[in-house]
Amino acid sequence: MTEETTLTGQAPPPVRDWPTSDLDGTDFDPVLAGLMREGPLTRIRLPFGEGWAWLATRHDDVKLITNDPRFSRAEVTRRQVTRMAPNFAPRPGSLAWADQPDHNRLRKPVAGAFTVSAMKRLRPRAQEILDELVDGVVRDGPPADLIERVLEPFPLTVVSEVMGVPAADREQVHAWTREIISTNGAEAAGRAKEGLYGWIRTVIRARANTPGEDVYSMLGGAVARGEISEEEAVGLAGPLQIGGEAVTHNCGQMLYLLLTRPELMERMRARPEARGPVLDELLRWIPHRSSVGLARIALEDVEIAGHRIAAGEPVYVSYLAANRDPAVFPDPDRIDPDRDPNPHVAFGNGPHFCTGTLLARLQTELLVDTLLDRLPGLRLAVPAEEVRWRHRTMIRGPRTLPVTWTA
Ligand code: HEM
Repeated sequence: MTEETTLTGQAPPPVRDWPTSDLDGTDFDPVLAGLMREGPLTRIRLPFGEGWAWLATRHDDVKLITNDPRFSRAEVTRRQVTRMAPNFAPRPGSLAWADQPDHNRLRKPVAGAFTVSAMKRLRPRAQEILDELVDGVVRDGPPADLIERVLEPFPLTVVSEVMGVPAADREQVHAWTREIISTNGAEAAGRAKEGLYGWIRTVIRARANTPGEDVYSMLGGAVARGEISEEEAVGLAGPLQIGGEAVTHNCGQMLYLLLTRPELMERMRARPEARGPVLDELLRWIPHRSSVGLARIALEDVEIAGHRIAAGEPVYVSYLAANRDPAVFPDPDRIDPDRDPNPHVAFGNGPHFCTGTLLARLQTELLVDTLLDRLPGLRLAVPAEEVRWRHRTMIRGPRTLPVTWTA
């Protein structure tokens, strides 16, 4: 690590250990809350990797860092940066680790599958998939576990349609993606990655000349035309395939909030035409992930919030913290369905902005609308304290969501 200096001559902030703890419910991480209080820019040490990293928590600093090419993702792959997860083997082609102009070149072949018009075409099919699942729930009657019956299978089936995963392979692909996003250990995640990436390679090869609109056909074509390498196509597909999991857990938290806050549920039912802004407010408020995501490395000295981040030093941003910045969101810990404006960064910011934003939005809208409209009197079937939460995981959410309704 380089020599410690600040622009103002004050001592750099102390390095705080941030152990990965299993948080239940939708509580905001108390370590992160403490770091936010300590200053706009603090320093952290996470359970894996080496050394320490800067952490930015304010909305404007987070937006600046994530949109500034002086902070590189690619550079992180050449270093042992302090991090929350043990498994760290970025592949060529991974969007998350690419800087410009590579990032644009890689995103281009798949961008068409995630546009507004692609979502318009997908919507009726996605609704059909969801209706079939909810038909089953209604047929069997209460109680039901919403995670098992709807929130897991729905995003998995939708993302599988977008990607072009044959029905027969869907269960296996899901088993791999679930293992990869858990923090069960490097070995298990490594095996799952090997399985998934081998499968993806075979599918991409088989679709080199198929004109389909699914992502695997798009990738097969891009490889055949020499726009990206096969290695890169595999690296691109993996995270897209895994991204679908985020919807299960984010919507799990969202429904838990609706089920445990009657005034919020009442508001959604009373004004269905005005649900969109409430969904945004919930996206802002939900503590989507554990700890922090992927670091960036300063390519040159950069001054932020009175500190000099020296060339070579790693930096994390917290979108969760930025979404609770009181300078941008008055009374930030309160869920305010009338919050306006609401410039939240739940899907990130800058070139690495979530590729699946519109897909996630589409699924979230369909899920909330369909469940609220088709299951009258929807409520938890157990006391809120008995809902079990995911542990040892990067993305937070309930493990099961037992509900009942007026059949
Ligand atoms: C990146 C949030 C769903 C694919 C991200 C980032 C966030 C995020 C915060 C990181 C931005 C950064 O690195 O600075 C979410 C949330 C979701 C969701 C809250 C659901 C509610 C999805 C879905 C997919 C997806 C459904 C794909 C089908 C990706 C990919 C990236 C990404 C590929 C990396 C983009 C890049 O680095 O260029 N997401 N996401 N996400 N997400 Fe999502």
